[in-house]
This record gives sequence, C-alpha cells and structure tokens, in this order.
Amino acid sequence: MGGISMKKMKRFGMVLLSMAAALLLTAFACAAVEDTGFSDVDSSAWYADAVAYCREHGLMAGITSTTFEPESTLTRSQLAAVLYRAEGEPAVTGTDSFPDTVEGSWYSSAVLWALREGLVSGYDNGLFGTADPVTREQMTAIFWRYAGSPSAGEAGFSDAAAAGGYAAAALAWAESSGVIAPVSGNIFAPKEDATRAQVAAALMAFDQLPKGQPEPEQPAPQPGTGEHVLIAYFSNTNQTENIANLLQSILNADLYKITPETPYTSADLNYNNDSCRANQEQNDNSARPAISGSVENMAQYDTVFLGYPIWWGQAPRIISTFLESYDFSGKTIVPFCTSGSSPIGSSAENLHALASGANWLDGQRFSGSASSETVESWVSGLDLPEKQAHNAAAQTKGDASAMMKITINGATLTAALEDNSSADALRELLANSPLTVQMSDYGSMEKVGPLGQPLPRNDQQTDTQAGDIILYQGNQIVIYYDTNSWNFTRLGRIEGTTAQELRGILGSGDIRATFSLEE
Ligand SMILES: Cc1cc2nc3c(=O)[nH]c(=O)nc-3n(C[C@H](O)[C@H](O)[C@H](O)COP(=O)(O)O)c2cc1C
Repeated sequence: MGGISMKKMKRFGMVLLSMAAALLLTAFACAAVEDTGFSDVDSSAWYADAVAYCREHGLMAGITSTTFEPESTLTRSQLAAVLYRAEGEPAVTGTDSFPDTVEGSWYSSAVLWALREGLVSGYDNGLFGTADPVTREQMTAIFWRYAGSPSAGEAGFSDAAAAGGYAAAALAWAESSGVIAPVSGNIFAPKEDATRAQVAAALMAFDQLPKGQPEPEQPAPQPGTGEHVLIAYFSNTNQTENIANLLQSILNADLYKITPETPYTSADLNYNNDSCRANQEQNDNSARPAISGSVENMAQYDTVFLGYPIWWGQAPRIISTFLESYDFSGKTIVPFCTSGSSPIGSSAENLHALASGANWLDGQRFSGSASSETVESWVSGLDLPEKQAHNAAAQTKGDASAMMKITINGATLTAALEDNSSADALRELLANSPLTVQMSDYGSMEKVGPLGQPLPRNDQQTDTQAGDIILYQGNQIVIYYDTNSWNFTRLGRIEGTTAQELRGILGSGDIRATFSLEE
C-alpha cells in the first residue's frame, strides 16, 4: 500500500521501502497518539493509532472533518474504494456487469479495479451488493487476496468453522499474519459486520507487514499423492482470470496463465471482423499459437484445472498448443470456461484427443462475474483425486466410510461426514442398518426428525448453509436448506447438489429420509 500493493511488490520481487522510510514508519506507528483529530476517537481507544495512521497516510478519511464513526459499518463498495485509493487509483477502463452498480458513480472505478484484481466477486444472484455492509469474513478474504492469497494452514479461532469455505484460508492468514485480530479472545466472529475501526486497524497492520521478504518455504511437492493442483488458464479480458483466481483461493493451488508469445490486441479479438486473428485461428484446425514460458515441473501436478474463453463455441487454439506441450497421462483435467452466453458445449470434449491419457472430468461454464460460492459449490461436487485420496485414507483409518447416502422421495444425495465423535457414532449406527427418519419442516430452513437414540455432542456456535447435516440437542438430525445460527454439531455436508436443487428435492412439507453409508 502507500502507493503500491503487497501483491504487486511480491509479483515484481522488489524491496521497495528504503530502510529510512521503514524506520520512519515504525517510529510513527509506535508513537502514542496524543490527538486523533476526531472528536469520536478517544486517544485511549484500541483503534486510535490505526485511525490516525490511516488519516496520515491518506488511506481512510473521516465521515466528517471531525468525526470518524469508528463503530459504523462499511459497505462493500466503500471497502473497494479504500483499497483502490491505497493502491494509488490506477486507471481502469470498461464497466462491470452488475445490475446494482451505477456507472460513473464514486465507486465505479474502485469496484471495477477490485473485480479485475480478483479481490471481490458478485453474489450468486448476479448482484455486487454495493450497499451491503462488508462482513468480517468478507473483509478478511479481500485483504488476503490483496496480499496475494498466501497459504497459511488452518485457523485456530474457536469459531473458524462458522466461516464460509471461501474464507477459510483467509482466516488462517489473518491469524498467522496478525493483520485482522479476533473480536475477543479466540473468537473471530466471521459473520459479523466489520466496523470502520476494524478496517482501519487491518489497513495499518497490512501496511506494516514486512515487505519484499521471501515467501515462507512450502513443503516439497510429493508427486502422485493426488494433492497437487494446477490452475492453468488463458484469458484476454479477465473473465476467465476472475474464475481462475477464485479457484486458486478455494483450492490453494498453483496458478499458471497461458500467455501467448504474441499478445492478442483488441483488433485481433474483434470477432465481428471475419479476418481478425482469433477468427482465422479458430477456422484453422492446425493453428497452434505459440506460448511464452512454460509450467515449472508439470510432473508434480495430479490435477489440472484448464480455463479458457469460448471462441465460436470452442476453446481457443492456444489451448491445443498447451495440451500438446506436456504429458498429461494419468493426470485429471478439469475444464472450465467463460463466455458471453454460450455453454461449454463440445469445446472440452473436442480437446480430449490432445491429452488422451488423461482422466477428463466434465467441464463447467461460468459467467466472468460468478461468485466464489458458485465456484466453490461446483468444486465441492467434483470427484477429484484429492477427495478420492481423502476417502481412501478415511477407509484405511477406521475402515469406515467418509460418505453417507440420504434417500428422499426417490432422490439420492451424498454427504461427506465430519471428522468428529458425533459423526463417528452416526457411522457406527448406520453400519448396523440404514436409518429411516420422519422429518418435519421447520422455520422454512430445515427438515428435522428424531434419531431414536442420542449421539455424543460436539456443539459449537454454527452458521448453517443449505446442505448442512446437523445434530440438534444430541438426538435429532436436521437437514438444512437455508441459513440458521445456533449452538449445535455439524455431522456432515451434502455435496454436489446446489441449494436450489436441494430445496426442490426436499419440497415444502414433511419428508421420510433414509440415511445409509455409501458402499
Ligand atoms: C473471437 C471470439 C469469439 C467468441 N465467441 C463466443 C461464442 O461463441 N459464444 C459466447 O458466448 N461468447 C463468445 N465470445 C465471448 C467470450 O467467450 C467471453 O467474452 C469470455 O468471457 C472472454 O473471456 P476472457 O476475458 O477470459 O478472455 C467470443 C470472444 C471472442 C474474442
């Protein structure tokens, strides 16, 4: 920040702060703040230094010249604007496609910039949520992406499990870097709205992170373990790149941009002109545009997500160049694409012959502004080698299935069971015989019914999502199709079914559900 982001610094590998500047910065930050300049920020408040720092560095202004409103919330567009200002307001051209952003408004460039940088995405319903308060988990994910999405293990906050999957790695980073503090003790409160004081504190801590230092050493890759994932993508107008960035956050995988030796100009991409370069290439089966650079040690990857824009219903020819450049035998390839409106169609199948030794999974088309939740829900339904390895490990460990089947109204759902003593006890129960439960609809959010016997409880404050299987009061099983927040135990989570599909299967009334272990 202070003109250039950490992400950029890391990208270019430069140490940008001189020793003198760093010393000055530290001296300033450590100095006690006598007068914060805001009548509502007492100099003894925990955030007083941060508010003064942000004002001094032009990172965050007051609401008025004399008030900061430290306890007020910030909207998603306001946080984008804060980071955009911190980045020095780089020029951006074009418009976003969100129906709830107003073109030419004070936040337009900021939202567009944040979108292109992969810092934010829209909701599943296609909206950006311009005026929605930013939650603590959203703020954390945005700062984490701004830091370049570093990997940091698992968060130890007592309520870390309440955070959305997209924010899990971000919470771990918040904890290890200290950029975003818990609200008290070990409680992070991921679903609470972030306050302006918390954002100021995060900005100061982020700005004071050591810069230009080497990344912490990652464990050496182990070929063949099914745990090494590469996301390779080609993108000219950032749409596919947005999805690749979301995937990277979700999977914590390596990212590789397929860069043409000769970049495509906008004239090259003008598909209205029959003789533009892109159209000529698409019309020529043998065209193989050259790629600049290569993937370092492709052998280490077991799974390759392959992203591209749809060009005339197919993958651009440079994807053929990519596939012919490496040996994909034994690897799993997962295609994904973005397009104006076309489906993935035959574009992925037509690539199979170029890497026939690979295990090709079905591909998926996204809009370039798809939300992290949409992408995550797709990923959770994929049969990746990593998941197979996880299930195999669970089988070996306890000779117990990690997966449960739930049959409702003739439809069969699959749920991954949790790793806790409650799920273990449920597994034991189902190992004897399948269990049929009469379940009532409750609160327009869940189906609940008696298990017939108690299971051990591992209750904790939990924010449910559609698909969560919950143990309530130790003796009732619940299938959630909407959100709730309560102290109970998660038994598992339905995979590969969207919230909408789940609602369709569950219907509006009471149901009979049969739970059994997957063979
Ligand atoms: C040469 C060319 C052909 C295209 N053909 C299609 C098409 O057949 N169907 C479609 O929905 N979009 C088509 N598009 C639009 C792109 O698929 C879409 O803008 C995509 O999201 C761009 O991804 P990118 O920003 O990652 O490059 C085409 C774009 C170009 C440049």
